[in-house]
Amino acid sequence: MSSHLRITPSILNADFSQLDSEIAKIASVSDYIHLDVMDDVFVPNFTFDFDAATKIIKSSPIPIDSHLMVADVDQIAIDYAQAGSASVTIHAEATHDIRATLKGIRFHGARSALALKPGTEIDGYESYVDEVDMFLIMTVEPGFGGQKFMESMMEKVRRTRKLIGSRPIWLQVDGGISLETIEIAVEAGADTFVAGSAVFKAEDPAQMVIALRERALSSKL
Ligand code: DX5
Ligand code: ZN
Repeated sequence: MSSHLRITPSILNADFSQLDSEIAKIASVSDYIHLDVMDDVFVPNFTFDFDAATKIIKSSPIPIDSHLMVADVDQIAIDYAQAGSASVTIHAEATHDIRATLKGIRFHGARSALALKPGTEIDGYESYVDEVDMFLIMTVEPGFGGQKFMESMMEKVRRTRKLIGSRPIWLQVDGGISLETIEIAVEAGADTFVAGSAVFKAEDPAQMVIALRERALSSKL
């Protein structure tokens, strides 16, 4: 896949009763599968417990990007790294020791990522820039798919892109990404894109992933 931009579709809006075949539909055209883990505490919704998530991680044909929307995430993040997640994202609002947890994720062989809810500014997280392999700027309030893209988050994306500078850190956006909004996110400096409902509500999910990548690449030129 292109080394400059990544499409990491979320399975939150896929058919949970046949996840293997849903993932198989898009695996060959996606960089990672984005796994939204919600505990009904940090966000008002529940998706997978650790056992169910581990089954998905171990059976996925392509790497899993575990987005942990869970309270008291520190030990859980290590568990998800040890379970084989290729990348583990913790929310800045859910950890008691950002640096130790990000280091722990990497120690257990996964890429480390720090996510910010819409109400959390990037300022104050500059000192963690050497512990992260990716920043995730939420473009919806976490908890549900199918919400409207928050264009007001583009200023935070621009500031995060500036903070990253020449470091090999990916900048992911998550929430409301579609053929229309992906261009806005590229222009602001994002290079990694989660899309849930845009992909799984499409007639042909794989074709939509391809189209999202092409749209992102063409707006990057
Ligand atoms: C929301 C999740 C997102 C969501 C994206 O809390 O983190 O990954 O599933 O879904 P869409 O693309 O439908 O906004
Ligand atoms: Zn997510």
